[in-house]
Amino acid sequence: MEQILQTTYLWLKAGHIIFVIFWMAGLFMLPRYFVYHQEAEPGSAEEARWIDREAKLRKIILTPSLILVWVFGLALAYAGSWWVAPWLHAKLLFVVALSGYHGWLVSYGKKLAKGERPLTGKKLRLLNEVPGLAAAIIVVLVVVKPF
Ligand code: HEM
Repeated sequence: MEQILQTTYLWLKAGHIIFVIFWMAGLFMLPRYFVYHQEAEPGSAEEARWIDREAKLRKIILTPSLILVWVFGLALAYAGSWWVAPWLHAKLLFVVALSGYHGWLVSYGKKLAKGERPLTGKKLRLLNEVPGLAAAIIVVLVVVKPF
């Protein structure tokens, strides 16, 4: 029984890490798309192509990965009885913030599709650092478990 639980745990962890990679890849790509998208003339054929690319990235990569990272992550926390671990609480704080960033990206994409250009390309490039920074902190918290 112990052996089965241990094997299941490792499969859950593998699934978790696989979808973390997909999610992060999508979070890095979408703001890059926005930089090119907002250089296109509103209403142009070029803009329509970027709207289509962004929708595909959201539907095929970002949304499913976000859901599966959470499902596998919560399953791991349950299976490993990690609920009381302070590192998990800290990690959840950053993961909730990263999920919020994901939501903000989706809303920014909708504004772009309406012809609005709220941020400059430079600001978008700067914001692109957010997921990398959050991922570094999250990985240290879960691997080193400093508290
Ligand atoms: C969505 C909510 C999340 C929850 C509830 C969660 C929870 C967990 C739990 C309980 C573990 C197992 C820890 C262990 O066995 O030592 C784990 C492993 C891991 N998580 Fe998450 N996680 C989440 C999101 C993330 C995110 C966003 C990242 C990276 C950006 C991430 C990266 C990792 C890594 C790299 C491991 C493997 C650590 C190791 O085996 O040493 N997780 N996660």
